Amino acid sequence: MATIKVASTDDWKDDAFERLRAGRLVAFPTETVYGLGAHAKDEAAVRRIFEYKGRPLDDPVIVHVHSVAAARALVDLSDDESVVFEALASSCWPGPLTIVSTAQPDVPLVVRADGPTVGVRVPSNSTARALLEHTNVPIAAPSANTFGHVSPTTADHVFADLGSHDILIIDDGPCDVGVESTVARVHNRAVTVLRRGGTSVEALKAAVETCPWAVEVSVKVGVGPSSLAPGQHLKHYAPGNAPAFVVRSEAEVEIVAESVAVPLGECGVLDIGGNLAGLRGRVRHYHDLTAEGDTTVAARGIYAGLRGLEAHALSAILLPDVSGLASSLHGPDSKSLDDKLFRASQGRYAMIRSGSAITDVQ
Ligand code: TXA
Ligand code: MG
Repeated sequence: MATIKVASTDDWKDDAFERLRAGRLVAFPTETVYGLGAHAKDEAAVRRIFEYKGRPLDDPVIVHVHSVAAARALVDLSDDESVVFEALASSCWPGPLTIVSTAQPDVPLVVRADGPTVGVRVPSNSTARALLEHTNVPIAAPSANTFGHVSPTTADHVFADLGSHDILIIDDGPCDVGVESTVARVHNRAVTVLRRGGTSVEALKAAVETCPWAVEVSVKVGVGPSSLAPGQHLKHYAPGNAPAFVVRSEAEVEIVAESVAVPLGECGVLDIGGNLAGLRGRVRHYHDLTAEGDTTVAARGIYAGLRGLEAHALSAILLPDVSGLASSLHGPDSKSLDDKLFRASQGRYAMIRSGSAITDVQ
């Protein structure tokens, strides 16, 4: 059974340290989502993370540390890679960026899913920093949800998914950013974004401008696992009660033979910026994360919103198409939100016609 301790009032630091040293797990807040942590150098403890989450062993986990120096101790960089790594670290850390590069041999194979690289990150959340500084151990941690489910942004979300296991959950309220870190690989003089998230691609481009030579920043975010990005499953962040669909306008989609008509009265909507406001009052449940279409606010609420829909009896969940939303340089861009909605819906689309959502439109 999991135990919850409140970061601001309970005495949790020594308990967390003892647990990590003993190979037990600690769930902790970060600015992005809650993580399920183990001592990164303790192979058996890291295996326990996979077991509790039901996560396949071919998906590597991120190692969290308290400083750039501690991160550098885990990776083996060429001279060029050092320059790029420093540029990204000094501009984006502490914060929602994970840098993937060649691992030092002492990083356990289970952490890197038997591959040659490791993802490292310095989080900015003050409780995460206090945990990393107090324990002074590198902490391997994926998001603290069951595999494939919506990521957790509160301690209660962690308890709902993993409460039956022996975990200390440190509660520091809702996460500020709300979507995971951006994962970027540094190789030679190039940066490749493998997962979109809390740091915009524009911010990465701005960061590497300090390098003495040009650094190419490209995005290689796939719809299925690849050798570079083993965690890019199409089904991710999915609510458990009803299938989700992104609503596209009729002009953009072609109906396929298997499409199904679901009455709007059985649908729930999680909206952003009033994109689907025309459905308010016609669907069973409607909630807009941000009437202004602010991507930072939408990201902060998106996972709690998806989990909130699970409390309603629904036949389908309808999500907005946010690919056209403007985004700011700071915080997650609209493409990160688009990616989360795409995966929550497993790439499925719907269109609205005559009081029904026509689902499974490809
Ligand atoms: O914001 C975050 O990144 C949160 C918090 C807890 O830090 N963590 C998180 O971890 O989202 P997880 O395991 O749910 O997602 C990590 C992603 C996975 O898609 C994984 O495949 C990828 O990062 N990843 C980790 N190490 C990698 C590596 N060595 N090479 C390629 N991808 C890697
Ligand atoms: Mg995850």
